[in-house]
Formats: sequence, C-alpha cells, structure tokens
Amino acid sequence: MSNVFVLDHPLIQHKLTYIRSKHTGTKEFRALVDEVSALMAFEITRDLPLTEITTETPVMEAQTKVLSGKKIGLVPILRAGLGMVDGILRLIPAAKVGHVGLYRDPETLQPVEYYIKLPSDIDERELIVIDPMLATGGSANDAIHSLKKRGATNIKLMCLIAAPEGVDLVQEEHPDVDIYLGALDKQLNEKGYIIPGLGDAGDRLFGTK
Ligand code: URA
Repeated sequence: MSNVFVLDHPLIQHKLTYIRSKHTGTKEFRALVDEVSALMAFEITRDLPLTEITTETPVMEAQTKVLSGKKIGLVPILRAGLGMVDGILRLIPAAKVGHVGLYRDPETLQPVEYYIKLPSDIDERELIVIDPMLATGGSANDAIHSLKKRGATNIKLMCLIAAPEGVDLVQEEHPDVDIYLGALDKQLNEKGYIIPGLGDAGDRLFGTK
C-alpha cells in the first residue's frame, strides 16, 4: 500500500467521528465534510512545486517562494463528490472543476458515463478525483479510466473513508494513482456499505433517502 496515505491529522480524525455519527444532521454533516475536505486538501497539496521570486518587503528585498503555477483540476464523482468541492476550493481557489457521473449497465456491466464535463487541458493538469466513499472502488476506477482515456496522466484520488476492497481495486488498475484517505475502514458489508463507515454519503449530504 505504498501509494495509500491515511491522513491521520487529529483535526481530520476528530471531525470524521462526528461525520460518522448517525446523530449528526444534514446541516452539520455538510459543514463537517466541507471542513475535513479543506484539511485534506492542505495535506494533499504538500508536494506542490514552489519557485523563488524577489519580493520587496517594507524592510528589504528578499527571495521568497510562490507556487510555481502547476495547474490543478478537481473532478468530483457525482453526486456525493460535490460535497467536498467547496472545502478544497477554499485552499485552491484557482482550480478548475470537472464533473463525472457514471453508472454500471446492469446487463453489460460496462460503465456508462451519463455526464462528463472536464477542463479542456486535463492532459496538463494534476487532477484530484473526489469521492467521499471508496467502497467497491467501481466508480473511482471507472472515473479514472474515463479521465485517462481523455488524456489525463497525473491523477490523485481523495476519499473520506475507504474499504480495503476499493483500495485494492484502484491500486491494481491504477498503480500510478496516489490515494488519500481520511480513514481506512474494515470492510464492506453484504449491502456494499463500508463498515463502520458513515452510511450513504450522498443521502446524508443532500438530505435524501
Ligand atoms: N457509498 C456510500 O455512500 N456509503 C457506503 O458505505 C458505500 C458506498
């Protein structure tokens, strides 16, 4: 699991506990997902390249650092991935945002893209694919294939909670993709839910059932 990073920062772990709790209502759930997403973005951008510039402070000229302008793209997987976008954009406001919506055709078992809209230059961007739950890994795996098919070469995956089954699938199919997690849980149950997990992330974010 060399390219799997569990971001065990105390603030992330604390907030994840309340995200998991069934007593947390929609409003607070949304706010917590937003906050954890921003904290995870802080960690995930640790390796962004810097370049030196000359800055005039009120006291003297100094060599200081700024981001070297690496282009970033966020790609939330519909619909639950949407809940993590704003938190990440607070830290990386210039990022472009693409969207991917997929389902598996129940007969052919092939992924069907029912919606895909991406920045035109995805081949030049570092793409962060976002999905709160990495369960079987099917959606993330298919979304990453869709992005690669369109020219993406630099992809990271960011999830709040994963099951080992999903991590294994993405690692097998996409060993080049680093995976960033808030937590790596035990397993999937017979209904495909991550346990202990947090339930259905989309329903909890949007107040649906
Ligand atoms: N999707 C969810 O929202 N929750 C799970 O536990 C698994 C998949």
